[in-house]
Parts: sequence; structure tokens; C-alpha cells
Amino acid sequence: MRLLVLGGTRFLGRHVVDTALARGDDVTVFTRGRQPNPWGSRVDARNGNRDPAVAPGLAALAEGEWDAVVDTSGYVPRIVRASAELLASRAGRYLFVSSLSVYANAAEPGLTESAEVGALADPATEEVAKHYGPLKAACERVVSDAFGDRALNVRPGLIVGPHDPTDRFGYWAARFVHPHLLGDRAPAAVVPAPPERPVQCIDARDLAAWMLDVVAAGQGGVYNATSPAGQWTFGDLVAAAAGVAGIGAPRPAWTGDDLLLEKKVEPWTGLPLWLPATMADVAGFMAFDCAKAQAAGLATRALAATIADTARWLAQRDNAGAWKDVLSADAERDILAARGAAA
Ligand SMILES: NC(=O)c1ccc[n+]([C@@H]2O[C@H](COP(=O)([O-])OP(=O)(O)OC[C@H]3O[C@@H](n4cnc5c(N)ncnc54)[C@H](OP(=O)(O)O)[C@@H]3O)[C@@H](O)[C@H]2O)c1
Repeated sequence: MRLLVLGGTRFLGRHVVDTALARGDDVTVFTRGRQPNPWGSRVDARNGNRDPAVAPGLAALAEGEWDAVVDTSGYVPRIVRASAELLASRAGRYLFVSSLSVYANAAEPGLTESAEVGALADPATEEVAKHYGPLKAACERVVSDAFGDRALNVRPGLIVGPHDPTDRFGYWAARFVHPHLLGDRAPAAVVPAPPERPVQCIDARDLAAWMLDVVAAGQGGVYNATSPAGQWTFGDLVAAAAGVAGIGAPRPAWTGDDLLLEKKVEPWTGLPLWLPATMADVAGFMAFDCAKAQAAGLATRALAATIADTARWLAQRDNAGAWKDVLSADAERDILAARGAAA
């Protein structure tokens, strides 16, 4: 397959390119050239800017034909429209990487692709941090307008694995397997009770392989794309991390929402992946219905495999400046003392 990746050099895109090269695809990547190109001449690396208002814009894509475009770096409809319209006559399909954040209301578990998506009060806004979900939904519409039934909108949940720059899932790999990366940590690790709390995530490599399969098979449409609802819990995540760590792994100190909130731990970022029950509006955020993608072949590797590979990557990454927003070693000790579990 002749594949064009809009992006490709950071995290998910990087796994898309790695997987495509391993499959024997002919790969073009389009970036600003700020991140290094890890593949050298094995890819056709073109530089420019997705934003046509920033010179030289999309000029480097003026020529070429592709069987498929995979867009891992679109956030603003005006900018996504520029590439979708430019490529509609020269690319067979356009796979846009959207997000499960598109949904207007994630209070209930089991949302399918037909649930309502969020709307922008101001359709011209480009404030991605503030309106990430509704902007992604608007980008999906732009891609569908340009490509019709040749458009594929994939809505991933939390994407995890090596090269993840967000330090969310990686916190748990580090906390159990390489705690020294997080400072002078107590021998017990604060984890959010109850262990039955649902967890959904997708290894970037599983997502990348599946996206290439479905786009190569000529599929169109919209897909929720994360692990099956109900497959994993926080207890599974902790058990897998402790298993990878082996002898000497931190002892999990299961801690209730009340104490974590009293100690001003920031949901999702202070203790990554933790959403307290008080946040009723996101109660379904770890329980999306992904049956359509699973039926179309989306597979999930074992959590322990993702944790082990993430921990290996973290051990050789430059971690300077990482984990700025997570629970500090002192704050964690304070919580352990408060729950009587300091060891
Ligand atoms: N992380 C999650 O948990 C999660 C969950 C759901 C959905 N998603 C979505 O998944 C995607 C993952 O993104 P990623 O960062 O991993 O993708 P990526 O393709 O690996 O990295 C982003 C790429 O975009 C390029 N880029 C950035 N701005 C550009 C511009 N103006 N013009 C041209 N190239 C540009 C970057 O290179 P240069 O810097 O060199 O330009 C880089 O190659 C995103 O669409 C995100 O919304 C993520």
C-alpha cells in the first residue's frame, strides 16, 4: 500500500509508520521536521506545515498519489479541511485519528458510535485545549465531507505504550517497575480504590496495526477503538505492573476517593487514569462499547506486555522534566501515613 502519514514521528504515528514499513508498505510522512525522522531514507519524508496559513503550508504534498492517508495530527477543522480537500482526488482513503472525547456526554457506560457528539458553540474556535472533543468531531465531519464513504474516523481511548509522551499510563509502569525514576518513593504505592474500577486503554502498536488493516481492507465509517468494555480493571493493571516488577515490587495501598480528594490529588493527572466517582459526567469514560472495532479485528495484547515494553522504553528515555504533574513522593508518603499504611 502507498501510505501517507500526516504526522508520524512522535507516538501513535511512529507506530503506524513502523508497522507499515514492517508490512512492506511504501510510506510518505509529512511533518514540520521538528521531531527527528527515525527511518532515514526508508520513508519519503516531506516537510511543511499542515496549517496552510503557515508557509510553506502543504506545498510538499502538491504531487503524489496514495492508496491511503492516515492523519494522526489533526485537531482543527480548518486545517484538516486543507489536507482532506487537497488529497481527495489523489488518495484512495483518509483515516482520521479522532478520539472518544468527541461524545457530548460520557456519564453513562456503553456508548456506541451512534451516541451524540459534542457541538462547538463557536464553530470558528481553534482553542484545542478547551474544545478538544467537539473540535475532533468537527474534523471528522470535514473528512467525511471530502472523502464520503472513503472516510474512516477512528475514535481511540487512552493510547499507551512506548514513546507515549503524556506520562499517564507510563506513571504506573514507572511506579511499579522503575520507582526510582519518580524520586525517592515509599515501598507502598498509592493506588485508587476500588480495584474493580474499570480501565480501558489501547496499546499504540495494536491500534496502529488494526488501523492499517481496516484501511487496507477498504473499510469506511466510524469506530470506537479501545480495549473491550469490562475487559480490565485497575486491579488488573496493578497486578500486571507488580508482576512485571517481580520480587520487591511496591505493595499497592488501595486508597479511596475521599482521602485522595481531601489530599487534593488531581484526578486523571495527579494519579493518572484515576477518575473519582464524584465526577459523574465522566462515569462512562472507561466503559465505551467497542464491539464494532473488535468485530473488525481490533485486538488487545496483554497489559503486562504493554507495561514491560513501556518500562523498558522509560528506562532508556531522558526523563528530565517528566511527571511534573503527578503525585510527588512526599505527597504520596503523606497519604500513606494518613491511611496508616506507611512502610
Ligand atoms: N494519546 C492519547 O491517549 C490519545 C487518545 C485519543 C486520541 N488521540 C489522538 O491520537 C493522535 C496521536 O498523536 P501523536 O502525537 O501520537 O501522533 P504522531 O503522528 O506520532 O505525532 C505528531 C506528528 O505531527 C507532526 N506535526 C505536528 N504539528 C504539525 C504541523 N502543524 N504540520 C505538520 N506536521 C505536524 C509532528 O512532527 P513535527 O513536530 O516535526 O511537525 C509529529 O510527527 C492525535 O490525533 C490525538 O488527538 C490520542
